[in-house]
Amino acid sequence: MLFNRVLITGANGLLGQALVRCLGQNREYDVLATARDDTPRFEDGSCGYAPLDVTQPDDVARIFEDFTPNVVVNCAAMSDVAACDEHRSEAWAVNARAVKRLAKHCRTTGARLVQVSTDFVFNGTRGPYDETARPDPVNYYGRTKLAGENAVREAGRANWAIVRTVLLYGTGQNLSRSNLVLWVADELSKGEPLHIVDDQHRTPTHVDDLAAGIERLLHHEETGVYHVSGADFVSVYELACAVATEFGLDASLIEPVSSDFFEDDVERPPRTGFVIDKARDELDYTPRSLDQGLRDVQASLQGFSSA
Ligand SMILES: NC(=O)c1ccc[n+]([C@@H]2O[C@H](COP(=O)([O-])OP(=O)(O)OC[C@H]3O[C@@H](n4cnc5c(N)ncnc54)[C@H](OP(=O)(O)O)[C@@H]3O)[C@@H](O)[C@H]2O)c1
Repeated sequence: MLFNRVLITGANGLLGQALVRCLGQNREYDVLATARDDTPRFEDGSCGYAPLDVTQPDDVARIFEDFTPNVVVNCAAMSDVAACDEHRSEAWAVNARAVKRLAKHCRTTGARLVQVSTDFVFNGTRGPYDETARPDPVNYYGRTKLAGENAVREAGRANWAIVRTVLLYGTGQNLSRSNLVLWVADELSKGEPLHIVDDQHRTPTHVDDLAAGIERLLHHEETGVYHVSGADFVSVYELACAVATEFGLDASLIEPVSSDFFEDDVERPPRTGFVIDKARDELDYTPRSLDQGLRDVQASLQGFSSA
Protein backbone atom coordinates (compact mmCIF):
# COMPACT_ATOMS: atom_id res chain seq x y z
CA MET A 1 0.00 0.00 0.00
CA LEU A 2 1.18 3.52 -0.70
CA PHE A 3 0.74 6.05 2.09
CA ASN A 4 0.21 9.15 -0.03
CA ARG A 5 -1.59 11.76 2.09
CA VAL A 6 1.48 12.89 3.94
CA LEU A 7 1.46 15.25 6.92
CA ILE A 8 4.93 16.65 7.66
CA THR A 9 5.51 18.39 10.98
CA GLY A 10 8.51 20.66 11.57
CA ALA A 11 8.62 21.24 7.81
CA ASN A 12 10.71 24.42 8.10
CA GLY A 13 13.67 22.54 9.62
CA LEU A 14 16.61 20.92 7.82
CA LEU A 15 14.96 17.53 7.42
CA GLY A 16 11.44 18.89 6.94
CA GLN A 17 12.55 21.02 3.98
CA ALA A 18 14.47 18.10 2.45
CA LEU A 19 11.40 15.91 2.73
CA VAL A 20 9.21 18.54 1.09
CA ARG A 21 11.75 18.73 -1.78
CA CYS A 22 11.88 14.94 -2.07
CA LEU A 23 8.13 14.24 -1.99
CA GLY A 24 7.28 17.35 -3.98
CA GLN A 25 9.04 15.86 -7.02
CA ASN A 26 6.50 13.04 -7.09
CA ARG A 27 2.87 13.75 -7.94
CA GLU A 28 1.62 10.59 -6.24
CA TYR A 29 1.95 12.39 -2.90
CA ASP A 30 -0.50 14.89 -1.47
CA VAL A 31 1.70 16.70 1.05
CA LEU A 32 0.67 19.06 3.83
CA ALA A 33 3.75 20.74 5.27
CA THR A 34 3.28 22.22 8.74
CA ALA A 35 5.52 24.22 11.05
CA ARG A 36 5.31 26.84 13.77
CA ASP A 37 5.68 29.82 11.45
CA ASP A 38 2.68 31.46 9.77
CA THR A 39 4.27 30.92 6.38
CA PRO A 40 6.81 28.44 4.99
CA ARG A 41 10.50 29.43 5.09
CA PHE A 42 11.06 27.62 1.81
CA GLU A 43 9.79 28.32 -1.68
CA ASP A 44 8.03 25.27 -3.02
CA GLY A 45 4.67 25.31 -4.70
CA SER A 46 4.26 21.55 -4.70
CA CYS A 47 2.64 21.14 -1.28
CA GLY A 48 0.06 22.70 0.98
CA TYR A 49 1.16 24.57 4.08
CA ALA A 50 -0.51 25.17 7.45
CA PRO A 51 0.90 26.53 10.72
CA LEU A 52 1.08 23.87 13.44
CA ASP A 53 2.74 23.81 16.83
CA VAL A 54 2.78 20.12 17.73
CA THR A 55 2.53 20.91 21.44
CA GLN A 56 -0.98 22.39 20.97
CA PRO A 57 -3.49 19.51 21.33
CA ASP A 58 -6.50 21.27 19.74
CA ASP A 59 -4.49 22.37 16.72
CA VAL A 60 -3.11 18.86 16.21
CA ALA A 61 -6.63 17.38 16.45
CA ARG A 62 -7.91 19.90 13.90
CA ILE A 63 -5.17 19.06 11.39
CA PHE A 64 -6.00 15.35 11.65
CA GLU A 65 -9.70 16.11 11.10
CA ASP A 66 -9.19 18.49 8.20
CA PHE A 67 -6.37 16.80 6.29
CA THR A 68 -7.02 13.14 7.23
CA PRO A 69 -3.41 12.06 6.62
CA ASN A 70 -2.65 8.40 6.05
CA VAL A 71 0.95 8.94 7.06
CA VAL A 72 2.56 11.44 9.42
CA VAL A 73 6.29 12.13 9.32
CA ASN A 74 7.24 13.86 12.54
CA CYS A 75 10.25 16.08 11.84
CA ALA A 76 9.34 18.57 14.60
CA ALA A 77 11.82 18.48 17.43
CA MET A 78 13.92 20.52 19.75
CA SER A 79 17.14 19.23 18.21
CA ASP A 80 19.72 21.47 19.89
CA VAL A 81 21.38 19.41 22.64
CA ALA A 82 22.37 22.38 24.80
CA ALA A 83 18.95 24.04 24.45
CA CYS A 84 17.25 20.81 25.53
CA ASP A 85 19.41 20.69 28.63
CA GLU A 86 18.63 24.28 29.47
CA HIS A 87 14.92 24.32 28.61
CA ARG A 88 13.90 20.91 29.84
CA SER A 89 10.14 21.30 30.06
CA GLU A 90 9.95 22.69 26.53
CA ALA A 91 12.18 19.87 25.26
CA TRP A 92 9.97 17.26 26.91
CA ALA A 93 6.82 18.88 25.52
CA VAL A 94 8.09 18.76 21.91
CA ASN A 95 10.26 15.63 21.84
CA ALA A 96 8.18 13.36 24.09
CA ARG A 97 4.66 14.54 24.98
CA ALA A 98 3.76 15.80 21.49
CA VAL A 99 4.93 12.50 19.99
CA LYS A 100 2.64 10.58 22.33
CA ARG A 101 -0.28 12.71 21.15
CA LEU A 102 0.60 12.25 17.47
CA ALA A 103 0.87 8.49 18.06
CA LYS A 104 -2.59 8.39 19.64
CA HIS A 105 -4.15 10.26 16.72
CA CYS A 106 -2.41 7.90 14.31
CA ARG A 107 -3.70 4.86 16.17
CA THR A 108 -7.26 6.25 16.22
CA THR A 109 -7.27 7.19 12.53
CA GLY A 110 -5.16 4.26 11.27
CA ALA A 111 -2.46 6.55 9.90
CA ARG A 112 1.14 5.33 9.74
CA LEU A 113 3.57 7.29 11.93
CA VAL A 114 7.18 7.80 10.93
CA GLN A 115 8.99 9.21 13.95
CA VAL A 116 12.48 10.63 13.46
CA SER A 117 14.94 9.86 16.23
CA THR A 118 18.64 9.99 16.94
CA ASP A 119 21.90 8.20 17.68
CA PHE A 120 21.87 10.15 20.96
CA VAL A 121 19.54 7.51 22.44
CA PHE A 122 22.78 5.47 22.83
CA ASN A 123 25.58 6.02 25.36
CA GLY A 124 28.27 5.91 22.67
CA THR A 125 30.55 3.32 24.22
CA ARG A 126 30.06 0.68 21.51
CA GLY A 127 29.13 2.26 18.20
CA PRO A 128 28.48 1.82 15.37
CA TYR A 129 25.07 0.53 16.49
CA ASP A 130 22.46 -1.62 14.79
CA GLU A 131 18.75 -1.59 15.58
CA THR A 132 19.02 -4.30 18.24
CA ALA A 133 21.36 -2.27 20.49
CA ARG A 134 20.01 -1.15 23.83
CA PRO A 135 19.40 2.60 24.23
CA ASP A 136 20.99 4.36 27.19
CA PRO A 137 21.04 8.13 26.66
CA VAL A 138 23.68 10.26 28.39
CA ASN A 139 21.97 13.65 28.14
CA TYR A 140 18.52 15.19 28.39
CA TYR A 141 18.03 15.51 24.62
CA GLY A 142 18.65 11.76 24.28
CA ARG A 143 16.23 11.04 27.11
CA THR A 144 13.47 13.11 25.53
CA LYS A 145 13.99 11.44 22.15
CA LEU A 146 13.94 7.97 23.70
CA ALA A 147 10.72 8.89 25.51
CA GLY A 148 9.29 9.90 22.12
CA GLU A 149 10.30 6.52 20.68
CA ASN A 150 8.70 4.71 23.60
CA ALA A 151 5.49 6.70 23.19
CA VAL A 152 5.29 5.48 19.59
CA ARG A 153 5.90 1.87 20.61
CA GLU A 154 3.38 2.01 23.43
CA ALA A 155 0.56 3.67 21.50
CA GLY A 156 -0.95 0.32 20.60
CA ARG A 157 -0.83 -1.86 17.54
CA ALA A 158 -0.54 1.12 15.23
CA ASN A 159 1.53 1.04 12.09
CA TRP A 160 4.78 2.90 12.83
CA ALA A 161 8.42 3.26 11.97
CA ILE A 162 11.11 4.89 14.05
CA VAL A 163 13.91 6.25 11.86
CA ARG A 164 17.07 7.01 13.77
CA THR A 165 19.72 9.15 12.12
CA VAL A 166 23.15 10.65 12.87
CA LEU A 167 24.70 14.13 12.52
CA LEU A 168 22.61 15.60 9.71
CA TYR A 169 24.17 18.00 7.24
CA GLY A 170 22.86 19.74 4.16
CA THR A 171 21.25 22.95 3.03
CA GLY A 172 17.86 24.59 3.33
CA GLN A 173 16.31 28.03 3.16
CA ASN A 174 16.23 30.39 6.15
CA LEU A 175 17.00 27.57 8.58
CA SER A 176 16.70 28.46 12.26
CA ARG A 177 19.75 26.28 13.03
CA SER A 178 22.98 25.73 11.14
CA ASN A 179 24.63 22.31 10.97
CA LEU A 180 28.22 21.28 11.57
CA VAL A 181 29.24 21.23 7.90
CA LEU A 182 27.82 24.68 7.13
CA TRP A 183 29.23 26.09 10.37
CA VAL A 184 32.76 24.75 9.77
CA ALA A 185 32.73 26.02 6.17
CA ASP A 186 31.51 29.42 7.31
CA GLU A 187 34.07 29.81 10.11
CA LEU A 188 37.00 28.63 7.97
CA SER A 189 36.01 30.92 5.14
CA LYS A 190 36.24 33.82 7.63
CA GLY A 191 39.72 32.59 8.63
CA GLU A 192 38.57 31.66 12.14
CA PRO A 193 40.60 29.01 14.03
CA LEU A 194 38.47 26.11 15.29
CA HIS A 195 38.75 23.56 18.10
CA ILE A 196 37.04 20.35 17.03
CA VAL A 197 36.71 17.12 19.03
CA ASP A 198 38.60 14.09 17.77
CA ASP A 199 37.18 11.64 20.35
CA GLN A 200 33.57 11.67 19.09
CA HIS A 201 32.81 9.42 16.13
CA ARG A 202 29.74 9.51 13.89
CA THR A 203 28.37 8.39 10.51
CA PRO A 204 27.35 11.85 9.14
CA THR A 205 24.19 11.85 7.06
CA HIS A 206 23.35 13.97 4.03
CA VAL A 207 19.82 15.17 4.71
CA ASP A 208 18.64 14.32 1.18
CA ASP A 209 19.69 10.68 1.75
CA LEU A 210 17.63 10.56 4.92
CA ALA A 211 14.65 12.09 3.09
CA ALA A 212 15.00 9.44 0.37
CA GLY A 213 15.13 6.70 3.04
CA ILE A 214 11.97 8.05 4.66
CA GLU A 215 10.26 8.19 1.26
CA ARG A 216 10.97 4.45 0.88
CA LEU A 217 9.27 3.88 4.23
CA LEU A 218 6.05 5.37 2.86
CA HIS A 219 5.85 2.34 0.57
CA HIS A 220 6.90 -0.10 3.25
CA GLU A 221 4.34 -1.50 5.65
CA GLU A 222 6.73 -2.89 8.22
CA THR A 223 6.61 -1.68 11.78
CA GLY A 224 9.96 -1.24 13.51
CA VAL A 225 13.16 0.71 13.97
CA TYR A 226 15.42 1.69 11.05
CA HIS A 227 18.93 3.10 11.24
CA VAL A 228 19.32 5.51 8.34
CA SER A 229 22.63 7.39 8.18
CA GLY A 230 25.71 7.86 6.06
CA ALA A 231 28.11 4.92 5.72
CA ASP A 232 31.42 6.65 6.46
CA PHE A 233 32.49 6.37 10.11
CA VAL A 234 34.63 9.39 11.05
CA SER A 235 35.59 11.54 14.01
CA VAL A 236 34.09 15.00 14.12
CA TYR A 237 37.62 16.35 13.58
CA GLU A 238 38.00 14.21 10.43
CA LEU A 239 34.65 15.51 9.23
CA ALA A 240 35.77 19.12 9.73
CA CYS A 241 39.01 18.42 7.82
CA ALA A 242 37.01 16.83 4.99
CA VAL A 243 34.89 20.01 4.82
CA ALA A 244 38.08 22.08 4.54
CA THR A 245 39.40 19.85 1.75
CA GLU A 246 36.17 19.74 -0.27
CA PHE A 247 35.52 23.48 0.11
CA GLY A 248 39.14 24.43 -0.63
CA LEU A 249 39.60 25.98 2.84
CA ASP A 250 42.56 25.98 5.24
CA ALA A 251 42.48 22.78 7.34
CA SER A 252 45.45 23.98 9.41
CA LEU A 253 43.01 26.33 11.19
CA ILE A 254 41.36 23.26 12.75
CA GLU A 255 42.90 22.05 16.01
CA PRO A 256 41.88 18.62 17.30
CA VAL A 257 40.85 18.59 20.97
CA SER A 258 39.29 16.07 23.32
CA SER A 259 35.73 16.50 24.64
CA ASP A 260 37.15 17.62 28.03
CA PHE A 261 38.36 20.78 26.31
CA PHE A 262 34.78 22.11 26.39
CA GLU A 263 34.35 21.93 30.15
CA ASP A 264 30.83 23.34 30.32
CA ASP A 265 29.48 21.34 27.43
CA VAL A 266 26.58 18.91 27.81
CA GLU A 267 27.87 15.32 27.74
CA ARG A 268 27.70 13.69 24.32
CA PRO A 269 28.04 10.00 23.43
CA PRO A 270 31.63 9.44 22.21
CA ARG A 271 31.23 6.72 19.64
CA THR A 272 27.89 6.36 17.88
CA GLY A 273 27.37 5.89 14.14
CA PHE A 274 25.11 3.27 12.64
CA VAL A 275 25.19 -0.08 10.95
CA ILE A 276 22.73 0.47 8.09
CA ASP A 277 22.38 -3.08 6.74
CA LYS A 278 18.65 -3.28 7.57
CA ALA A 279 17.90 -0.07 5.65
CA ARG A 280 20.05 -1.28 2.74
CA ASP A 281 18.30 -4.66 2.63
CA GLU A 282 14.68 -3.66 3.26
CA LEU A 283 14.56 -0.16 1.79
CA ASP A 284 17.24 -0.43 -0.85
CA TYR A 285 18.78 2.56 0.87
CA THR A 286 22.13 3.66 -0.60
CA PRO A 287 23.65 6.78 0.93
CA ARG A 288 26.21 8.84 -0.95
CA SER A 289 29.81 8.90 0.31
CA LEU A 290 30.82 11.66 2.70
CA ASP A 291 33.07 13.28 0.08
CA GLN A 292 30.22 13.28 -2.44
CA GLY A 293 27.83 14.65 0.19
CA LEU A 294 30.16 17.56 0.90
CA ARG A 295 30.52 18.28 -2.81
CA ASP A 296 26.72 18.27 -3.11
CA VAL A 297 26.41 20.74 -0.23
CA GLN A 298 28.89 23.05 -1.90
CA ALA A 299 27.00 22.82 -5.20
CA SER A 300 23.66 23.59 -3.58
CA LEU A 301 25.14 26.55 -1.68
CA GLN A 302 26.27 27.95 -5.01
CA GLY A 303 22.73 27.36 -6.29
CA PHE A 304 21.22 29.30 -3.37
CA SER A 305 23.64 32.19 -3.70
CA SER A 306 23.00 32.58 -7.41
CA ALA A 307 19.20 32.19 -6.99
N1 LIG B 1 20.41 17.58 13.22
C1 LIG B 1 21.02 16.45 13.55
O1 LIG B 1 22.26 16.34 13.50
C2 LIG B 1 20.19 15.26 13.96
C3 LIG B 1 20.85 14.07 14.30
C4 LIG B 1 20.10 12.96 14.69
C5 LIG B 1 18.70 13.07 14.71
N2 LIG B 1 18.09 14.23 14.38
C6 LIG B 1 16.63 14.29 14.44
O2 LIG B 1 16.18 14.60 13.14
C7 LIG B 1 14.95 15.33 13.22
C8 LIG B 1 15.04 16.58 12.36
O3 LIG B 1 16.11 17.36 12.82
P1 LIG B 1 16.60 18.64 12.03
O4 LIG B 1 18.07 18.58 11.95
O5 LIG B 1 15.79 18.85 10.80
O6 LIG B 1 16.26 19.75 13.12
P2 LIG B 1 15.79 21.25 12.91
O7 LIG B 1 16.40 21.83 11.69
O8 LIG B 1 16.00 21.90 14.24
O9 LIG B 1 14.23 21.06 12.64
C9 LIG B 1 13.32 20.79 13.62
C10 LIG B 1 12.14 21.69 13.36
O10 LIG B 1 11.15 21.41 14.36
C11 LIG B 1 10.53 22.62 14.64
N3 LIG B 1 9.82 22.64 15.91
C12 LIG B 1 10.34 22.79 17.14
N4 LIG B 1 9.34 22.80 18.04
C13 LIG B 1 8.19 22.66 17.35
C14 LIG B 1 6.82 22.63 17.71
N5 LIG B 1 6.44 22.74 18.99
N6 LIG B 1 5.90 22.47 16.74
C15 LIG B 1 6.27 22.36 15.45
N7 LIG B 1 7.55 22.42 15.03
C16 LIG B 1 8.49 22.55 15.99
C17 LIG B 1 11.64 23.65 14.62
O11 LIG B 1 11.05 24.90 14.43
P3 LIG B 1 11.85 26.26 14.59
O12 LIG B 1 12.67 26.37 13.34
O13 LIG B 1 10.74 27.26 14.66
O14 LIG B 1 12.66 26.14 15.83
C18 LIG B 1 12.49 23.17 13.47
O15 LIG B 1 12.16 23.84 12.26
C19 LIG B 1 14.72 15.58 14.70
O16 LIG B 1 13.83 14.60 15.19
C20 LIG B 1 16.07 15.39 15.33
O17 LIG B 1 15.95 14.96 16.67
C21 LIG B 1 18.81 15.33 14.00
